[in-house]
Amino acid sequence: MGSVGDTKDSRPVDKRNRPLHDLRISLTDRCNFRCTYCMPKDVFGPDFAFLPREELLTNPEIIRLAGLFVQCGVSKIRLTGGEPLLRSDLDPLIQSLSRMDGVEEIALTTNGSILTEERARRLKAAGLSRINVSLDALDDAVFQKMNDVHFPVQKVLAAIEAAKGARIAPVKVNMVVRRGWNEDQIVPMAEYFRGTGTILRFIEFMDVGNSNHWRYDEVVSAKEIVTTIGKVWPLEPVAPNYQGEVATRYRYVDGKGEIGVIASVTQAFCGDCTRARLSPEGKLFTCLFRDTGPDFRALLRQGSSDDDILDVIRQTWRMRDDKYSEQRSELAGRVHKVEMSHIGG
Ligand code: GTP
Ligand code: 5AD
Ligand code: SF4
Ligand code: SF4
Repeated sequence: MGSVGDTKDSRPVDKRNRPLHDLRISLTDRCNFRCTYCMPKDVFGPDFAFLPREELLTNPEIIRLAGLFVQCGVSKIRLTGGEPLLRSDLDPLIQSLSRMDGVEEIALTTNGSILTEERARRLKAAGLSRINVSLDALDDAVFQKMNDVHFPVQKVLAAIEAAKGARIAPVKVNMVVRRGWNEDQIVPMAEYFRGTGTILRFIEFMDVGNSNHWRYDEVVSAKEIVTTIGKVWPLEPVAPNYQGEVATRYRYVDGKGEIGVIASVTQAFCGDCTRARLSPEGKLFTCLFRDTGPDFRALLRQGSSDDDILDVIRQTWRMRDDKYSEQRSELAGRVHKVEMSHIGG
């Protein structure tokens, strides 16, 4: 039985009355970075067993599934990884998804390392609406220590410009803040992006996965970040763009744009969480902090009908009761979780 207002043919709501609104699709578990907070080399070394190609969902499989999720209420799709731009068949995928009735937005989260002007133009032409680029520091030494593959800041800044040049707007920049690593970059990053139209978001270091050596004392709280910036350039809160937005928004009082803070650790936002996640091999995760979910690739490859698959989506969502960030203090260290680089954040 679903909740009140949830009929068989309609859009399911979960046990906490949250509808299904966003689908985050991880296109690959591979990445060319080894960010220490996500894919530390002691775990993701040369012998790490990534998924073989035949285990990844194909474009036609992703498109069919996405269409069924749209029937269940999804209107926003975000493509993630690993590094989604490593997937060579990305443009036709975006093209098909963006033409789907009911899809209002296709967004991408990337490290920007292989985003050239030409690639950005192709993504835009395929129908990409928005792009979020990860960048943890402006200082090369700090950034290279964090990405752990000697990747220079300048190339990511060029990727951000490439996206803007292709009129993919707004571009957002994601900076994970980890105490002892890059908190001295908060103000320089804010200074660099102020007044450019690019929206900088600061992300609290999260205990995703099992291998990123997370410690609470390395979390720099959103409150501390806002206070630090506000002392230099006064800030005021801005209302969310939509209910359930992950980032809390602030604007510079002097009119030089806005920033966001993503405070999953110190201010849980599970109450409004309308996000489903599809792993590269086709499993559905109802929370970033789960370790598995129903296997849609198996259903697809054994010839299940659309109705059968819709039933599984709806039943899974109706049973959903996830609220990991609210329960972190009880659960941290006690549950096995999917890796961030596998499920895409
Ligand atoms: P916008 O649509 O531009 O607001 O993007 P987004 O912030 O939803 O997506 P993005 O991929 O840029 O993720 C930014 C950060 O938010 C990453 O660290 C994600 O892991 C985190 N995040 C996104 N959704 C959730 C969520 O449901 N729960 C938690 N705990 N973190 C999330
Ligand atoms: N905590 C917070 N954010 C993280 N990301 C990756 N690992 C973590 C973590 N442990 C961020 C990436 C990217 C987004 C998808 O998630 O930097 O911007
Ligand atoms: Fe870094 Fe993103 Fe790659 Fe993880 S998936 S290692 S956060 S670039
Ligand atoms: Fe959603 Fe889980 Fe994140 Fe809470 S912790 S906001 S339920 S993904």
